[in-house]
Amino acid sequence: MTDPLISLKGEHRVIERALHALKGMCLRLEGGKPVEPEALLKLLDFIHISCYRGLHQPAEKCLVRTLLERGVQFKGGPLDNILFEHEVERRLVADLDSSVAAYNRGDPYASQPLINTANHYVDLMSDHIRNEEHVLFDIMSKVFEDQSIALLNMVFEPSDQELGGAACELFERMVTDLERGWAA
Ligand SMILES: [Fe+2]
Repeated sequence: MTDPLISLKGEHRVIERALHALKGMCLRLEGGKPVEPEALLKLLDFIHISCYRGLHQPAEKCLVRTLLERGVQFKGGPLDNILFEHEVERRLVADLDSSVAAYNRGDPYASQPLINTANHYVDLMSDHIRNEEHVLFDIMSKVFEDQSIALLNMVFEPSDQELGGAACELFERMVTDLERGWAA
């Protein structure tokens, strides 16, 4: 049975590859060159399906809930910041959606707001991933016993099955395409 911490770290590495692609798109826009609307939409698809609502966040919610049930304090503690980052992430993804929509409509003023939002998102997610691996995962590895790891794996599996049972392969393909075309 796979340790969920190892699975989550693997998902983080895939998300980082998509962030490199987004950074590459920003550099191109900053240089005054266009980015194809399809590429921006593909990257947004990846964010929505993979790290925003598909596989990663349900898994994280499950972990947070399990930690709360086991008496780990979030309010005022180091984990509070991680929940705050999730809120900021949701707002930035909504901003990215509207910035990309404006850019893809051909709005001549849409490029700079898109660059700003995308860079902010890349910075936030890079810090967030580091925080999770150093703070959240460290606490988790101390709190969980073998039994709860088995329980967590049972909760994770349905989200993978909802996406057709081949979610990891799908994300891998999506991110490989994005990286090949755009990674900085
Ligand atoms: Fe997270």
